[in-house]
Amino acid sequence: MMFTLWLRPLIQASVFLWAVASHSPQGCDFSQGKWVIDEASFHPLYDASRDCPFIGFDCLKNGRPDKEYLKYKWMPSGCDLPRFDGTKFLEKSTGKKIMFVGDSISNNMWQSLTCLLHIAVPNSNYTFTSQIQELSVFSIPEYRTSIMWLKNGFLVDLVHDKEKGRILKLDSISSGDQWKNVDVLIFNTYHWWTHTGQSQGWDYFQVGNELIKNMDHMEAFKIGLTTWAKWVDSNIDPSKTKVLFQGIAASHVDKKGCLRQSQPDEGPMPPYPGVYIVKSVISNMTKPVQLLDITLLTQLRRDGHPSIYAGRGTSFDDCSHWCLAGVPDAWNEILHAVLFGN
Ligand SMILES: *[C@@H]1O[C@H](CO)[C@@H](O)[C@H](O)[C@H]1NC(C)=O
Ligand SMILES: *[C@@H]1O[C@H](CO)[C@@H](O)[C@H](O)[C@H]1NC(C)=O
Repeated sequence: MMFTLWLRPLIQASVFLWAVASHSPQGCDFSQGKWVIDEASFHPLYDASRDCPFIGFDCLKNGRPDKEYLKYKWMPSGCDLPRFDGTKFLEKSTGKKIMFVGDSISNNMWQSLTCLLHIAVPNSNYTFTSQIQELSVFSIPEYRTSIMWLKNGFLVDLVHDKEKGRILKLDSISSGDQWKNVDVLIFNTYHWWTHTGQSQGWDYFQVGNELIKNMDHMEAFKIGLTTWAKWVDSNIDPSKTKVLFQGIAASHVDKKGCLRQSQPDEGPMPPYPGVYIVKSVISNMTKPVQLLDITLLTQLRRDGHPSIYAGRGTSFDDCSHWCLAGVPDAWNEILHAVLFGN
């Protein structure tokens, strides 16, 4: 049968765990833990400029002066996070398509994964096409593996109406055909829902035939995410496609900001807005969805953002995205662990 070696043990071992946050097939919870200096100096996992000049988010190249932030590894409370093994990842993904669907935080994770796989087979004749508005594809022909990113900020439909402007249709997904026939789907949406004022991406919400000017943004997020959950429940065959949700990456767009932060924080951290919605929606689904649950580990890394080293001039202070090498590499270490175990 087509679905194979790499999904079957997961299905057998962990059906009941899949709806629970960020557990490996062995039952380890990767969502709780702390950042520690990697004494073995295995981290950073790569030097972006030297190893993967094709990726972005390279803060050192953009002039970031401190390097401490590169030396940390995520240490879960109850177990070790296995080392990222790019060769194993590729062997188990031979002939597979892996697709990230989401906003620029998905892009951040996708770029990290492309580098982690590239350094495993540096002589591969890989192709890397990065498109801001459509499908970006990294492929390794020797393994017939494609790692893709499809930009989609809300997952539900955003339509443009000549008179009314931009309408965010909370109960409608018409672009789902692009998500079919993929072996692993890693969805993400959150940050675009929190935007207000100039950066808000819509003029109206729509539910059914009703246009709504104002609604609590978290309420809208819940309705939109529920629409996505229904799409997955009706369209995904878990024997063919594994579905994951990336989870909410904390941003540090606040008074303290992220400029000149050079060390991780220690927990505990307050609950992050929206997380309970993600967990509640996923736990109500009928199809298995694995939540990567990266919120705490990102809350603790105020130092992990590009800040003024995003490559867009010093007036642009980015406390939402993440330097590479850096924090998203840990998300991919968790992805590797939940897909393939130790
Ligand atoms: C990459 O392509 C070149 C030229 O076609 C070929 O000589 C080389 O063997 C290929 N590398 C790999 C790892 O397949
Ligand atoms: C999940 O289901 C429970 C029980 O039916 C319900 O109370 C809760 O509101 C649901 N969560 C969401 C996000 O719909």
